[in-house]
Amino acid sequence: MRDVAVIGIGMTKFGELWEKSYRDLFVEAAKAAMLDSGADNLDSMYVGCMSGGLFVGQEHIGSLMADYLGVAPIPATRVESACASGGASLRAAFIEVASGISDIVLAGGVEKMTDVDGGMATYALATAADAEYEGFHGATFPGLYAMIANAHMHKYGTTPEMLAHVAVKNHDNGSLNPYAQFPAKISVDAVLNSVMVADPLHILDCSPVTDGAAAVVLAPLEIAAKLNAKPIRILSTGMATDSIALHDREEITHLNAVSVATTRALEMAGLTIGDIDFAEVHDCFTIAELCVLEAMGVYQPGKAGPAAMRGETARDGSLPVNPSGGLKSKGHPVGATGIAQAYEIVKQLRGEAENGRQLKDVKRAIAQNMGGSGGSSVVTVFEA
Ligand code: COA
Repeated sequence: MRDVAVIGIGMTKFGELWEKSYRDLFVEAAKAAMLDSGADNLDSMYVGCMSGGLFVGQEHIGSLMADYLGVAPIPATRVESACASGGASLRAAFIEVASGISDIVLAGGVEKMTDVDGGMATYALATAADAEYEGFHGATFPGLYAMIANAHMHKYGTTPEMLAHVAVKNHDNGSLNPYAQFPAKISVDAVLNSVMVADPLHILDCSPVTDGAAAVVLAPLEIAAKLNAKPIRILSTGMATDSIALHDREEITHLNAVSVATTRALEMAGLTIGDIDFAEVHDCFTIAELCVLEAMGVYQPGKAGPAAMRGETARDGSLPVNPSGGLKSKGHPVGATGIAQAYEIVKQLRGEAENGRQLKDVKRAIAQNMGGSGGSSVVTVFEA
């Protein structure tokens, strides 16, 4: 297996982007990543996308994007694993470069979610739940994560204030990210007094519906070193699956796919979670960030909420989590999210994060991207 590095990154602003089409978004991010990389050609590309069909009526996305990027006839494959589609796209590109099949490979992600109304967006997202056993009974992702939150509160004494601290911290980080959809700083009171979506999750506990795209360009390390002054290595990848339906899991507060994917990625990198300097994780709802950190082994079950209140996951905490603002503040264009996590990690490891959100002395980072309520997860380890 060859050593692999990220040599270029690109991203659009996240938000409600009426003026840009689906293909415009992808091409903007991909062109930025190629320019940043110094490479003038691609051998292959992957496009993470959860539901082009339901959000914009478009499938066959690999070819469409390769054509509009001007790189056809290279191989181009759309990758889907619900909200982990971006992470799965990165994993596919990593494997292709590591295997020696291709040298310069682009991993991108895109979603345009705001061209449909809220009901349709909720339906499209809910197709990533178990359609027959969850979807047909009216369950949506806010509802499913609310069930997880209620179980976590009942089992471990987690409180709405602990959840709110996750949102406050991520908005604080996102306020420094020029690409964030909701960069406003918020308070714990604002979260607790915001409109209830699915008890105990208020609107400010939820990630939003977002348009956006992100892309990274990968190359083998020996080529990377010639093209880019600051290649960032990808040390490893881990992916795992779980029952999609919550009722099929032994314990709904435990995200087993996250645990297994993290273990695989850390073992492949020859590291432990204690060797990691910061993390970008899948905070689609505030409770998700807590459950993810517990599943990754950062905290024992039930301990992530109190740690959030103590500020341990803030930019100056013992393990900064989501310095980008996370899905909560930066936005969550589902197919793009896993790549946007990689974008932030590369920026931080290069020492280029804007507006004072640069973390000090960081060398290694982990990205955790999740599909649905934990039916899939992809974990990637990076090193400067
Ligand atoms: N965080 C902060 N502000 C938000 C927000 C969020 N998540 N979602 C919407 N807003 C703001 C809007 O900008 C708008 O503000 P304005 O009145 O000043 O313009 C206001 O709140 C209402 O927005 P609207 O779009 O009407 O909200 P909505 O009720 O249709 O949707 C949610 C809110 C939470 C239901 C929706 O964002 C959602 O479904 N989020 C979860 C997405 C999801 O499940 N992703 C997959 C995860 S696995």
